[in-house]
Order: sequence, then structure tokens, then C-alpha cells
Amino acid sequence: MRVPVPVTEDIYWVGINDFESDIFEAIWPIPEGISYNSYLIVDEKVALIDTVKSCFMDLFFKRLAQALPEGKKVDYLIINHMEPDHSGAIETARKYYPDLKIVGNKKTLEMLNSFYGVTDNTVTIGDGDTLDLGKHKLQFTLTPMVHWPETMMTYDTTTKTLFSGDAFGGFGALRGGIFDDEVDLSFYENEILRYFSNIVGKYSTMVQKAIAKLAHLEVQNVCATHGPVFRSNPKYIIDVYDKWSRYEAEKGVVVVYASMYRNTQRMAEQVARTLAEENIEIVKMHNVSRSHLSYIINDIWRYKGVVLGSCTYNTKLFPLMDSAVCALNPALMQKRVVGLFGSYSWSGGALKSLKKHAEDGKWEIVEPMIEAKSAPTIENLQDCEMLGKKVAQRVIAEV
Ligand code: FEO
Repeated sequence: MRVPVPVTEDIYWVGINDFESDIFEAIWPIPEGISYNSYLIVDEKVALIDTVKSCFMDLFFKRLAQALPEGKKVDYLIINHMEPDHSGAIETARKYYPDLKIVGNKKTLEMLNSFYGVTDNTVTIGDGDTLDLGKHKLQFTLTPMVHWPETMMTYDTTTKTLFSGDAFGGFGALRGGIFDDEVDLSFYENEILRYFSNIVGKYSTMVQKAIAKLAHLEVQNVCATHGPVFRSNPKYIIDVYDKWSRYEAEKGVVVVYASMYRNTQRMAEQVARTLAEENIEIVKMHNVSRSHLSYIINDIWRYKGVVLGSCTYNTKLFPLMDSAVCALNPALMQKRVVGLFGSYSWSGGALKSLKKHAEDGKWEIVEPMIEAKSAPTIENLQDCEMLGKKVAQRVIAEV
């Protein structure tokens, strides 16, 4: 790919596409890859906004060199976010550009020291401060916990471009198209939701605060650290983040279950069958032993109904279900309609644990809760039908 890619007046995309990593943050699968977006503003003073993961530095610095006009160097490195997928090239950038000044807020600079031992040639900015590059004036907005405490956004008042950090970003490497009008948005919307729900969603309250704080800005381009640049319809990406961080959901039900010998699975299938009969067209089923948590969280974030069912394992909740509900609780289950069922053979455990999670998280539970001994009886399956019916009714009533 020929880089730099012009974004708007004097601003260039100089990022990297990662088609090689299997997982992000050592947890989340990225079969479709991910981009680490970095942007260069070439003005009287040159500013680079965020860098890339350290293992991609060689190509990154080649691209930067291609993007810089002869005789220019990078004067400022603005750190919107210190997570190493964006800060990984800082130390090397200081070697390439010895006069480089690193710009960040107080928390950024603390992390700059703790991650990389860098304390010199820094510029501390506060909320609302500006940096004058010549033609372009940059304004900083602190947006803590979207995704880390130091996260902030940088707004170019000249081109009305918002460099938003992780906010408004998504999984999925860029496949030639960099801009929203060049890509298959349905593909990216799925990957953006998976990124949002896996990475940023737990901080939804802070996402809402950030969106409110930015409301006065006229934004013509949204340049996030991951995923496409939104230049044709920047409102689209802000609106979907707004919707998701308010826990708005679509019509559909996610059935998540754990089953060792298909007995609990039969209960899950009965619930799913009834949901379909009750006009829930989208029923997602996840066997926790086979579906990665990333996709379970993604579906729960999209759909209104959630049914969790688990076998008991050594008197406790099946370990993979336990891990799933710990990850879900409490932030990810808000404004959801929830059904529960379980099974055991000689000692209860699964349903009791699910109920405890439900109480702790204040989940909105739909009765009946069902518990089968060893294998579901006809009565248990009839109760599963009832559960499917009730969940369907509540979902339809609420979306
Ligand atoms: Fe893309 Fe929170 O780092």
C-alpha cells in the first residue's frame, strides 16, 4: 500500500495493518486483523498523533519518512492513549527525532515514565488546552477511561478533525479502503461492535461523558486509533457508540449454555425452539466450551434477551460458564431480559451460582428458573418452553 494516505488538508494516515496477530490484548481473537492508526499533521510544526505496536516499527518509520517533506522532522508526538498498541514506538521515535516533544496530560506523562522511563522533552497539557502548529490549532479534551485513565482526544479546529483514540474504533484491519465511503460498512460494524463490547463497553458511562463533552464540536472527520476513518458520515460512528453505551439493544435472544453430555444442551435447544416459535427471528446459541467469550459478549451487547444455562461441575458452576458470567457481570448485563436454567446430578451448584450472579448484578430475571436433575424430564422441558415464551414476550415488549 502506498502510504501516506491523505485524510484531509495536511493530515495523513500513516498507520499499520496487522494481519498477523491472532489475539489482541492476549485475549480477544482478531481473525480479521486490526489496524493501528497513526496520523501525521504537516504544518509549520509537524505533529504525529499516536504511534503503533512495537513489532511494526520498522515499516512505520519508513512510512513516516515517506510522509515527511524534505527538511521536515516530527516536532510533536501527541499521545492520546498510552496502551502499548499505540505507544510502542515512542522510544524509537525519540531516537529518530531527538528534539521531539511528547505531548500528553498529567496521567499520560506518569505512564510514559512507568512504561518507558521517559521524563524529558515532554509537554503537559490540561483539559481544553491548545497547541498551535501554524495553520492547524489542536485542542485537547480529556476523556478518562475511554479506555484508560489517561485517554484523551485531539481536535484540529482548522479541519474539524477529531483524533479520538480508542473511542469510535473497531477490530478489522483495513483492506485497501481507509475511509468509511471506501469500505464494506456492514463488515466493519460487526467488528466495531465486537471491539466496543470487548474493550471499551465496560466503561460505557465514561463513553457517555465523553460524547456529551464533545457535543459542541463540529466534527467532519473521525480518526480513531483502530478501524476506518469516518469522513463521509462521522455522525454514524458517534451515534453507534452512543447507542451501544446507552445499552440500547435489538430484537433477538442469546442462549449461552454449558453442557458436558448434551442434557443441559437439550434444555437450551428447547428454549431456543420456543423463542423461534414466538417470533424471535434472531436466536444466537453459544456453547461456552466452543464459543470464545469475545463473540458471546458481542452478541449480548447487540440483543435484548439473554438466557444462561449451565451444568454443575464438581458441585459448582461449570468453570467456563463461571468465567463467562464473571466477565459479563455487572456492566455487560444492563437493560437485558435474562432467563436462567441449570442441571446437577448429586449436588446443586450451577443454578444457585447463576442466581447469585443475577442478584449481585441486579439482572432483570424472567421466571421460571429451571433446574434439572441429571437429565431434563418432560416437565423440565415444558418449563423451558415457558421460559422461552416469557423471554420472547418481554423482549418483544421492550424493543
Ligand atoms: Fe488500542 Fe486501549 O488501545
